[in-house]
Amino acid sequence: MVKVAILGYGNIGSGVVEVLRRNKEHVTKRAGKEIEVVCVLDKREFPGDFMENKVVHTIDKIINNPEIDIVVETMGGTTPAYEYVKASLEAGKHVVTSNKELVAKHGAELLELAKNKNINFLFEASVGGGIPIIRPLNQSVTSDEIYEITGILNGTTNYMLTKMEKEGTSFHTVLKEAQQKGYAEQNPEADVEGYDACRKIAILSSLAFGCQVDYNDIYTEGITNISDTDMEYAKKLGLTIKLFGTSKKVDNKVYAMVSPVMVGDEHPLKNVNDVMNGILVRGDVIGDLMFYGAGAGKLPTASAVVADIIDEVKHLDRNITIQWSKNKLKLGDFKNSKKQFFVRVAGNVDERKNEMEKLFGVEHLVTIGKEDEFGFITCLLSEGEFEEKAKHCDGMITRIRLTQ
Ligand code: HSE
Repeated sequence: MVKVAILGYGNIGSGVVEVLRRNKEHVTKRAGKEIEVVCVLDKREFPGDFMENKVVHTIDKIINNPEIDIVVETMGGTTPAYEYVKASLEAGKHVVTSNKELVAKHGAELLELAKNKNINFLFEASVGGGIPIIRPLNQSVTSDEIYEITGILNGTTNYMLTKMEKEGTSFHTVLKEAQQKGYAEQNPEADVEGYDACRKIAILSSLAFGCQVDYNDIYTEGITNISDTDMEYAKKLGLTIKLFGTSKKVDNKVYAMVSPVMVGDEHPLKNVNDVMNGILVRGDVIGDLMFYGAGAGKLPTASAVVADIIDEVKHLDRNITIQWSKNKLKLGDFKNSKKQFFVRVAGNVDERKNEMEKLFGVEHLVTIGKEDEFGFITCLLSEGEFEEKAKHCDGMITRIRLTQ
C-alpha cells in the first residue's frame, strides 16, 4: 500500500481523488500496488464529502507522517506551494504537481533536490492538462535535437477565440462562460494576458533545451486586444487567430514568445479548437510531432496527475532523470526575430495604400466593406523594424503577427 497526501482539495485535487476511486482496480494493476489517499490539506472543511474525515489543516501533519510516501500538490501559485513542496522533498517524500507557476519558477531547483534524495518530482499535468508532453519530451524524443516547440497551451483562451470566431460572441461573455466551465484560472488575467501560456512554454523550452528558460525573459502578449472585427479580417484572409506559445532555435539562438497569431490552413495547429490544446514539436531526426488533447478541466488534468503518481509508485526507490539544469538559457533578442504582420489602419484604402506600401511593403490588401479602415499583410520584417515603422504609421488600429 502506498500512501498519498493531497495539498489543496479544489477542482484538480478532488479530481485526483475521483480518478483514483473510479479507476481503482486498473490503477492498482498499473502501479503494482494499492494507492490510498490518507489525507488532504485544505483551509476548508468538506462536510458530507467522501474525504470529510481526512482533511488536515497544517502541513506538519503530512511532513511528519513517515507513512506518507507521495505528496500531490494541486494548490496552484507559489506561496505556500513552494515551501510545502520543498519541505516534502526534504522529508524524503516524492512529489507530483500540476502547478505550472511552481514548476516554471522552481523546477530546476526542485528536480535537483529530488535527485539528491533519490526520489522524484513529476509534473506532467503542469502543461497541456491531460496531454502527455513532459514524459515524451523527457523519455521519447531524446535522440533528436528539438528546434521548435509551438503550442496552443491555454484552454480558456482557445475556447474563447473559437467561440469568438465561430459564433461572433463578445470577449466578456465568452470569458464568463469559460470561468463557469471551470477552465479559467481564479484570476482570468493569467489566461487572457498570456501569463499561463508563458509559464507553460517556459517549462517546455527548459525541457527541450535542458537549461533554465526564465519566463520573465519571454515576450508575452495576450488576447485582450483581439476583437470580432479582427476575426472578420482573418476569415476574409482564410486565416484564424490563435494564441501561440512558441520557442524556436534559429542559428543556435532560441527565440521565444507568447502572442496571438494569424494561422493558415497549412499549420498543424489551425484546427485545434475549443478547450483543446495542441503542441507541435519539431526535431531534426523525427520531423514533426503533434500532441493533442484536453488542456484544462478537472478530470483530464487529474488523469495526468494520477499517471505521475503511478510512475512514482513504480520508482519509489529510484530517481527518474529529467534533464533541466539551473543554468540559465540566454534567449535571442526578440527584436531580431522576423515575421509578417497583419495591420489594420484607419482611412480609405485607395488614399492610403501607397503610403502603406512604402512604409511596410504590402503583400496583400484586405477590406471587409468598411469605408473608414482596411487591412494588409506586410512583407517579412524583424520585430524591431516593424516597431520603428509603426511609429510612423498614423491611425494604426491593431497589428497581429502571422505564423512563420
Ligand atoms: N487555465 C488553464 C487553461 C488551466 O485554461 O489552460 C490549465 O492549465
